[in-house]
Amino acid sequence: MQYIIKGGNKLEGEIMASGSKNASLPIIAACILGGKTTTLYNVPNINDTKITLEILEILGCKVVRKNGKIIIDSSNMKKTEIPNELMHKLRSSIILAGALIGRFKKAVFSYPGGCDIGARPIDLHIKTLQKLGINIDEDAGYIICKCDKVVGADLQLDFPSVGATENIMLAAVLAEGETTISNAAMEPEIIDLQNFLNRMGAKVAGAGTNLIKIQGVKNLKNVSYNIMPDRIEVGTLLCMTMITGGHSKILGVNNEDITSITSKLEEAGAKIVTGKNQIEIIAPKKIKSVEIKTYPYPGFPTDMQSVFGAMLTVAKGTSIIVENIFENRFKYLNELKKLGAKVSQEGKVAIIKGTKKLHGVEMNVTDLRGGAAICTAALAANGESKINNIEYILRGYENLDKKLRALNAQIELVR
Ligand code: UD1
Repeated sequence: MQYIIKGGNKLEGEIMASGSKNASLPIIAACILGGKTTTLYNVPNINDTKITLEILEILGCKVVRKNGKIIIDSSNMKKTEIPNELMHKLRSSIILAGALIGRFKKAVFSYPGGCDIGARPIDLHIKTLQKLGINIDEDAGYIICKCDKVVGADLQLDFPSVGATENIMLAAVLAEGETTISNAAMEPEIIDLQNFLNRMGAKVAGAGTNLIKIQGVKNLKNVSYNIMPDRIEVGTLLCMTMITGGHSKILGVNNEDITSITSKLEEAGAKIVTGKNQIEIIAPKKIKSVEIKTYPYPGFPTDMQSVFGAMLTVAKGTSIIVENIFENRFKYLNELKKLGAKVSQEGKVAIIKGTKKLHGVEMNVTDLRGGAAICTAALAANGESKINNIEYILRGYENLDKKLRALNAQIELVR
């Protein structure tokens, strides 16, 4: 599939943020835990959530999608083996391991897939799950996790991995005794997972700090839950408005979760006006160059790095981006060069020299956020761009073309 973008239109108008991809995935996994019925609202209709729900159905859950809500009944679920081909389709399928172990004391899965943005090992997941008393063996490419019971423990993460923090939380909710996670990831999506688990009757505290405590409970209950807004989608739409010199308002936003993004946009010359659950951006006449270094939350998010990189191709002066989280997240730069961007890379540093003009061209998407970056640059380029392999973008952005059209962009999705 392909997007065709005719650049040059200023993004203008008002749009609603979708639910968060990265919060939905662990929360959908958590629905397995209680063996009950869960109703989720605001789950984005994107390929990553579709695949996760498909895995749940294969494992024996009943999944009903109705009027914007998703009802998941895990009461008759029995299977604990995640099919290989689906495991390969998304990285976050590893999260299902924690939930399966939590409920059934057993999980079988292969190495996860996802975007090719670096090595993405799962050693931290394995190491910490073992400390909860889970035996983990590898056989013919499969990882087999088994135990009689999960026993709470004091865990220390070598790095504040988002996925490992979530996996431990899921595995520990029904464990015997207390689990603590030191050097836990502090991302807002982890707070959303904690809120969801506690609504189900779990006893989790500390999410949003680097020390999370999980007191094991015996049972969980039926709940309904509204997923938080997608801060990366919001940041993407803000950068897209910025590069086109536009003025837009996004509704349904948690402004406190995006301060590292908005403060960089202000540094680059944006006027930002925040209100209750909404944000307005007015682009400057000329974007200023900035320096960006990605870090775990509350630092600047790696997921926003590429979209900022694209936005900065038309800035005044030279911008520097240092990518500290994933080693292979600059592939989009080669595509931006085709548009006339003056970009180069040395190891984990990208150097972006602002240019006055980008011109439309054919480009290929190689990963989700890199794809969003390519669209960002195409929106500002003169003439038409053809963007191939947009399947990557559809993994994580809900109705991006529709939303951009509502904001006055010229974009078509071609199947
Ligand atoms: C999550 C997000 C992703 C985001 C990333 C960092 C989801 C579904 N995805 O991914 O969008 O870019 O956080 O904010 O929420 N690492 C190891 N060993 C491990 C686990 C991770 O070395 O066992 C390394 C990774 O290779 C990477 C770093 O830790 O360099 C961060 O990874 P992690 O925080 O785990 O990211 P994900 O959970 O995969």
